Amino acid sequence: MAKKKKKSVSDLNLERSEYEYHLPVMLSKACDFLVKKPDGKYIDGTLGGGGHSGEILRRLSPRGSLYSFDKDEQAISFCREKFWGELQRGEESRLRLINECFSKACSITGVEGGFDGILLDLGLSSRQLDESRRGFSYRKDSSLDMRFGPDGKTAEEILHAAKEEEIIAILRDYGEEPFAHRIARRIMLQRRAFPFKTTFALRSVVEESVPEQHRSKSLSRVFQAFRIAVNNELEVLYDTLHNCLPIMSDGAKIVVISYHSLEDRIVKSFFKERAVKKAQIKSDSDLTKSVPLLKILTPKPVLPDDDEIARNPRARSAKMRVAEVVFF
Ligand SMILES: C[S@@+](CC[C@H](N)C(=O)[O-])C[C@H]1O[C@@H](n2cnc3c(N)ncnc32)[C@H](O)[C@@H]1O
Repeated sequence: MAKKKKKSVSDLNLERSEYEYHLPVMLSKACDFLVKKPDGKYIDGTLGGGGHSGEILRRLSPRGSLYSFDKDEQAISFCREKFWGELQRGEESRLRLINECFSKACSITGVEGGFDGILLDLGLSSRQLDESRRGFSYRKDSSLDMRFGPDGKTAEEILHAAKEEEIIAILRDYGEEPFAHRIARRIMLQRRAFPFKTTFALRSVVEESVPEQHRSKSLSRVFQAFRIAVNNELEVLYDTLHNCLPIMSDGAKIVVISYHSLEDRIVKSFFKERAVKKAQIKSDSDLTKSVPLLKILTPKPVLPDDDEIARNPRARSAKMRVAEVVFF
């Protein structure tokens, strides 16, 4: 039997600069679920390098519209250039780039609800991870920032201000780090002696606290934990899922791609909580009138296939869940 040819990045019809910024994960699968109405109104909460936004625009008619959010000014500038032609159309443009947290999507100034779908492709882009000054990677020595945007406390500020129990909670709740106590203790001892200013300072504390065979996993978990704390990621996700329903239209799709179990758990339990059975609805007339409910379209999360993981190893932990908004 002929061997199946692996697709390369160049088969994806992306410009070189696009995949250098970030290679979009499950691009077609996500847009197949999301964009059902070419004339519809959509939200991309996590613009990044604009891979998904570009594909959504490609599927929209001239009457469709897309509101794309990113907290990171760099993603917005990159996409301002990338979508220059589309944005040149002024009032006629189908695209609005918004340099805000995606939680603001639930109340866009001057825009009524009735959205046909929202996409959240969570976490950080490859550009953010690779860029040394952002402080997201323990592989690069840089300042301990870790913010997606300019607001809020940096990782350095949190590391210096938090009490020991708070550091333990960050490591345990946002990193599921088994050596949370040891690492927090050492952070407390060392920060008295010298200020934590760089990623490598945090890295060496982790390396000194954890047995050698566990170090690389602990480093990933600790950096993830501080990034989640700095950006308040889980609360923002929880709030946005709950608050976005009133601005959705009947049949709108909620598509979420997550990269670790903490995010996935929030999405899964939100979908479950809202997925009320029809029998229940008939017996509760208040519920039917006031709250939109959800039909789960992915009983099991959708995963990237082997070809995609070979092409883009950063896709390997991705899980996509999709639900449809239903008004009875
Ligand atoms: C995984 S990337 C998205 C990649 C994008 N789908 C693409 O095709 O290039 C995640 C992006 O979401 C942004 N982001 C993360 N949390 C955010 C939030 N709460 N509000 C707005 N943007 C956020 C990050 O700055 C990053 O650019």
